[in-house]
Amino acid sequence: MISVKDNFGIKGLHLQRVESPFSTVNRVSLRMDPFRRYCNAGNSVAHTSLDSFKHLLEWSYGYRNSYNSNNSLKRRSPSAGALYPTELLLLTYLEEQWCLLYYSFSEHQFFRITDIDISMFLAENNLNKTESQLYFVSIFTRSVQKYGVRAYRYAHLDAACIADTIARFYRSDYPDAPLSIVFPSHTLNKQTGFHHGEAISFSFILQNQFHIPALDTYIDPAKTIQNSFSGCAPYASSNLMHVLEFHERALSVKAARYPWMFHTKQETSLDYLRLYADKRSSAQEFDEQAVDILVYSDLCTSIVPFCLEVNKFLGIQLQVISLATRVSGIRSGTAEELVNGQALHIHSDAKNCMSQVLAEACQHQKIMKNTAFTFIVAIPVHETSDTGTHLYTKSIIGAGLVCSKLYHLAYQHNIGTTTIGGFSEKMLNRIYENENIIPLVVQTFGHTNNTHSKIDAATTILLNI
Ligand SMILES: Cc1cc2nc3c(=O)[nH]c(=O)nc-3n(C[C@H](O)[C@H](O)[C@H](O)COP(=O)(O)O)c2cc1C
Repeated sequence: MISVKDNFGIKGLHLQRVESPFSTVNRVSLRMDPFRRYCNAGNSVAHTSLDSFKHLLEWSYGYRNSYNSNNSLKRRSPSAGALYPTELLLLTYLEEQWCLLYYSFSEHQFFRITDIDISMFLAENNLNKTESQLYFVSIFTRSVQKYGVRAYRYAHLDAACIADTIARFYRSDYPDAPLSIVFPSHTLNKQTGFHHGEAISFSFILQNQFHIPALDTYIDPAKTIQNSFSGCAPYASSNLMHVLEFHERALSVKAARYPWMFHTKQETSLDYLRLYADKRSSAQEFDEQAVDILVYSDLCTSIVPFCLEVNKFLGIQLQVISLATRVSGIRSGTAEELVNGQALHIHSDAKNCMSQVLAEACQHQKIMKNTAFTFIVAIPVHETSDTGTHLYTKSIIGAGLVCSKLYHLAYQHNIGTTTIGGFSEKMLNRIYENENIIPLVVQTFGHTNNTHSKIDAATTILLNI
């Protein structure tokens, strides 16, 4: 069996140099906002039948003011370090013809894409005219400039977080609304003509008949990055080129379509979702107060069935490790693998200073100092033994869905949380003495203290190679 140690493909995709507070990143120079190439005034499309799609996208992923009113704009889904690596395209039947549209959140409108042959999109899925297909395009190069190769993970985690929010809003009209996820074929990604790390991660097939009310106000972000990077060529680092090639390869050989997960009424109540979209925010830091054991236990028990459902529909084996550090009534250093219900042995050095070793494993990020408890979403090493990277990448998408669910659970319990992408998997594995899992993402919890703005731990040191 090939393990991750020998699977150089995955090793390359997973590589992160984060054993210090500073990440090291290969120097690259790419366009920051490449999809603005589709925003030509002559191609804008407005039509009443697109209104619900527009509202769906704006509510789930549009701009809003920061909850901390520090004048920064936020997206309505958590996003990796305020770099937004996911763009959305809509394939829909409009005025007697199929068209492929790009939604611009700056202009708040759709633009027709005219230089892509859409017959190959249509050939993949036999859409009927009452359905539309929403494509999640990961712009890997947008975050690679800051996060290096680990941006491969960020791009898919980001797309999954957005997909989860969109799916909930879409089903707010009725929870059983048909929805499928489609992994596009390798051929489709090759034929789109996207380049430099732009690739369809997956898509949704939705029924056109749903109703979402408009936002009260649309917020306009500055369009300053429009021209700033035009004409830049990627720095030809061999590692970067290798990852770009993987990214563009897509997740299946043939198009594959699966029904999306079940949603309960509570998870799709429009009133709840609108409040959530307006108020949710990633915690900047935590204070020293312990989290109540009932809250901790509820999160632990609620995430398991969700995770099992994700595992089932994506055919993956996510695990969730919980590490308690400041939970009332629970000894600091208590750890459990939640999905299989196994208590874990903690390295004796880590037991007495759990928050400290956790912070060290997560680039000394300040937020980890007072963490009350932390979940690590991981996969067993043998899941990476397929010859391709499909399972690994689907697992990242599944992990993103789990993070999104955890943001919801934290919001419902009025505690703070943040996804943490900057960690050393080796250092994490040392804490619970298990080298047979690969941590994909960390989600940390505590009582929010937003008096300080967080400093991005991915202060990059460019490697001049
Ligand atoms: C894939 C991913 C990785 C992230 N990594 C970190 C991290 O290492 N440290 C951190 O403080 N926040 C991290 N975040 C949280 C983002 O910084 C935060 O979601 C973003 O700034 C948007 O803020 P908001 O969630 O309040 O809208 C991450 C988010 C995502 C989706």
